[in-house]
Amino acid sequence: MDKLVNLLYFSATGTTARVVQAIGEGLGSTVRECDISHPYSRQDLSFGRQDLVVAGVPVYGGRVPDFLVDYLARVKGDQTLAVCVVVYGNRDYDDALLELKDTMEGNGFLVIGAGAFIGEHSYTRLVGTGRPDRQDLEQGRQFGRRLRQKLAAINPGQEVPLAVKGDFPYKERTPKIPAIPVIGADCLECGMCAESCPMQAINWKNFHDISEGKCILCCRCVKICPVQAVSVDHEKLDRIRQTLIAQCSQVRREPELFI
Ligand SMILES: Cc1cc2nc3c(=O)[nH]c(=O)nc-3n(C[C@H](O)[C@H](O)[C@H](O)COP(=O)(O)O)c2cc1C
Repeated sequence: MDKLVNLLYFSATGTTARVVQAIGEGLGSTVRECDISHPYSRQDLSFGRQDLVVAGVPVYGGRVPDFLVDYLARVKGDQTLAVCVVVYGNRDYDDALLELKDTMEGNGFLVIGAGAFIGEHSYTRLVGTGRPDRQDLEQGRQFGRRLRQKLAAINPGQEVPLAVKGDFPYKERTPKIPAIPVIGADCLECGMCAESCPMQAINWKNFHDISEGKCILCCRCVKICPVQAVSVDHEKLDRIRQTLIAQCSQVRREPELFI
C-alpha cells in the first residue's frame, strides 16, 4: 500500500487515541499522528490523493462534539480516502458515525470504512470499564488489516459507496450541564490539568478558576490528575451517572465495523 496513513484524532481521556492507533497498526505502514486534543494542535490541514486519513472522535450526546464539527470544516481533502471512527461509552453512538462520515465527505474525503468502538465512559469508570480492552484493540488491528486489503483493490478515482448506522436529521444536541470541575484540597499545583485541557478552560495562574463557558466536561482533568484531586460533582451529572451505571454497566457492547 503506497498511501501515507494519517491518524487524525481528538481524545480527551485517551480511549479514541488507543483505538485509532490500533487501526493504524493493522494498516501496517508508516503512520503520521495528528493528535488534535490540544487547541494549539488544531491547525488548518489539507490532505492529498497520496494520503489515507483515519479520523477518530469520541461521541458526545450521540453526536460528534460540536467544536470538532467546526474544526473539521478546516480539514480539507482532495478525493482523499478516509476511515471514520467514533468511540463511545457503552451507551450508544446514535448518529455520530453518520455525522462524522457526512462531515468528512463534505470536505473532499472518500470514506472507505467506518467503525464504532467502545471506551470507558468519561463520566464514570463503572461503565465501559477498561475499554478499549485487548479484544477491542485486536479488532481494531484486524479492521486495519481488512482496510489494507480493500485499499489494494480500489482503483484511483473509483466510487466506493459505504452505508453506516445513523439517521439524518441527526439526534438533537443535549444542552451542556452547567457544571465545572472542582479542584480539591489535595491539589499538588503540578499544572497538568491546565496544561492538557483541550479547551484551555483552566487558568494557569489559578487552577481553581475554570471557565464554564469553555469547559466541555470532557473529564480529561479528572482522569489525568495524579492525586485524584479533580472531580465534577453536579446534581444533574450524578443522575446521569446513576442512569448510566444502572442501564449500561452490565451489558457489553461490541465494536461495529462498516467496510
Ligand atoms: C460530554 C460527554 C458526552 C458523552 N456522550 C456519550 C453518549 O452519548 N454515548 C456514549 O455511549 N458515551 C458518551 N460519552 C462517553 C464518551 O464517548 C466515551 O467515554 C469515550 O470513550 C471518550 O473518548 P476519549 O477517551 O477519546 O475522550 C460522553 C462523554 C462526554 C464527556
